[in-house]
Amino acid sequence: MPDVEDLKEAKKFHLDIPQETPGFHLKGCANLDWGMRNRLSRIFNPKTGRTVMLAIDHGYFQGPTTGLERVDVDILPLLPYADTLMLTRGILRSIIPPSDTTPIVLRVSGGASILKELSNEQIAVDIEDSIRLNVCAMAVQVFIGGEYERESIINMTRLVDMGTRYGIPTLAVTAVGKDMARDARYFRLATRICAELGAHYIKTYYVEKGFETVTASCPVPIVMAGGKKIPELDALTMAYNAVQQGAAGVDMGRNIFQSEAPAAMLQAIKAVVHENETPEKAFDLYNTLKNEFKK
Ligand code: R5P
Repeated sequence: MPDVEDLKEAKKFHLDIPQETPGFHLKGCANLDWGMRNRLSRIFNPKTGRTVMLAIDHGYFQGPTTGLERVDVDILPLLPYADTLMLTRGILRSIIPPSDTTPIVLRVSGGASILKELSNEQIAVDIEDSIRLNVCAMAVQVFIGGEYERESIINMTRLVDMGTRYGIPTLAVTAVGKDMARDARYFRLATRICAELGAHYIKTYYVEKGFETVTASCPVPIVMAGGKKIPELDALTMAYNAVQQGAAGVDMGRNIFQSEAPAAMLQAIKAVVHENETPEKAFDLYNTLKNEFKK
């Protein structure tokens, strides 16, 4: 109990220093509540406004993907290099030590496998469990133009509503069906629908032509999806182009964990994303680190 008899008169009012009203480092997010912005700030580095998310959630619809057969052996050593980890609650609880402080983006949609119609998903995690797991965002797949388009959009809007109640942002992941055109026009449509309906940030693929129009017409941050494994220099070039054309970072899986040297690749991607390193210089860094890891 403070001694009320001996209270000192308050006098440090700093009348010459007006209180600052800082902005926020993520576009479209300045008016969110404190908890939302705090969680987003753990995902997106406040100094660069960007993130490198390591996606390892593939097993939720396709089982033990190449490179993810043993998350404990092959992925745990990468955690010190990832800004954020995107995964399912099953892998989080069974493999990731609670002492690890890498921000978590939890995959919360599911219900379909590669053996059936992939767009037939629903929300597969209670909001209480996301809170219990102390996650920084929840990820939901949105299938614009897919067979279950409407259901997947409603999954997203329900998640936005639930997350807003507790200050947890929603990441909308735009999924592209086999028969859909992967062009800027399609991604403008998909990302804008997700943003208009409340997603706090959006994961989408890079396209060679017009990607800057996708980022420009989306009022919230976009992170670039990795896609299937391509040569390291090509993946670094794709990440470089994406951030130079307005992406707030990347969310990559196979191009990191299926690389010959995943830890080296993750660090090279970070150089591109946070330091605007050119793809060629980042590739040199990759090769140097790859050789060091071999020693
Ligand atoms: C995509 O729909 C899922 O979120 C994936 O499991 C994952 O994020 C894809 O990562 P990548 O295409 O870079 O391997």
